[in-house]
Amino acid sequence: MKIIIDRFNGTKKYESTFELSKDELVGKTLLTVLLHIKQTKDITLNFTASCRSAICGACAVRVNGHSYLACDTKMEELLKEYENPEILRISPLGNFKVISDLVVDWEPSIENLRKIKPSITAKSEFSKEKGCKQTQAEFDRISKQWDCILCGCCASECSKLEADQSDYMQPFVFTHAYRAAADSRSKDAMIHVKPSVTNRLWNCVHCQECADRCPKGISSFSDISNLRVMAMRSGLNEGEGPGHAEAFLLDMVEGDGRLNEIKLALRSEGVIKNMGKMDIAANLMMAGKMNPLHIFGGDKIEGHDELVKMIEAARKAEKQGAMK
Ligand code: SF4
Ligand code: SF4
Ligand code: FES
Repeated sequence: MKIIIDRFNGTKKYESTFELSKDELVGKTLLTVLLHIKQTKDITLNFTASCRSAICGACAVRVNGHSYLACDTKMEELLKEYENPEILRISPLGNFKVISDLVVDWEPSIENLRKIKPSITAKSEFSKEKGCKQTQAEFDRISKQWDCILCGCCASECSKLEADQSDYMQPFVFTHAYRAAADSRSKDAMIHVKPSVTNRLWNCVHCQECADRCPKGISSFSDISNLRVMAMRSGLNEGEGPGHAEAFLLDMVEGDGRLNEIKLALRSEGVIKNMGKMDIAANLMMAGKMNPLHIFGGDKIEGHDELVKMIEAARKAEKQGAMK
């Protein structure tokens, strides 16, 4: 079969095609295949890898547009996933600047990690002598996030970064912010929550691609949601994002159970900002996607009473949990 690799030599993009026999693929991982190509076919091919044990996070690449941890991806499984194709295309991670071939620049991501202060500042009750302990249950709350190996698979798939990288951070940055903020030993969660909000926590578009592709089963999307809850509970509820979330819940509980697009836009962005969007609203109405009469509400959705009961029960359980 053919393996096409997207290359970059510092100035020019090009691709290299390698013919590999079945024997050169079977029983190997994606990383072993890359090493085999480098050792036997083209010594100039550049990629990064270190541990070969899914620990260091250095070997992530894209295959047919999706990110994989190369040392943890069996070729048989990959070929099965793509129904034994004639060709596979290997590319560097998306949403990263490419330095050379499959090697990408991690400096902007590290810079973003610095912003959310990933190391905790311990509570004053801890000391060098007494240590800085936490219970198993406290650790369990953040153990998943500790599994992050900074491979970048989530960032490669992130729809928000793909649309515009100028006002968002890599999903794993928020995972590290949540891990530090939710750590029982941390003096103040806001040390990590505040810079997350400032650096556009609310710009996540909820596609959940990050959770789908993480080789460690981490959901940065959930961590982002948890950071949002922490922010709102601490009074960081100014702006469009929190307004949008509150308006959404209001429609669910006090409205008819349907998302009221018109009211939602007015509540979260205000009248003045929406004046500038009248053309979009007009187009949506003409396409039959928005009914202006919905501003007055509509019939309740079937099962709305049950939905409200569920939300109220969840609120009550949460309050009881907080009092314990
Ligand atoms: S859910 Fe948010 S962080 Fe995750 S990939 Fe989508 S936009 Fe990015
Ligand atoms: S959250 Fe998952 S996909 Fe993202 S960097 Fe960490 S381990 Fe990789
Ligand atoms: S080589 Fe370390 S995670 Fe793959």
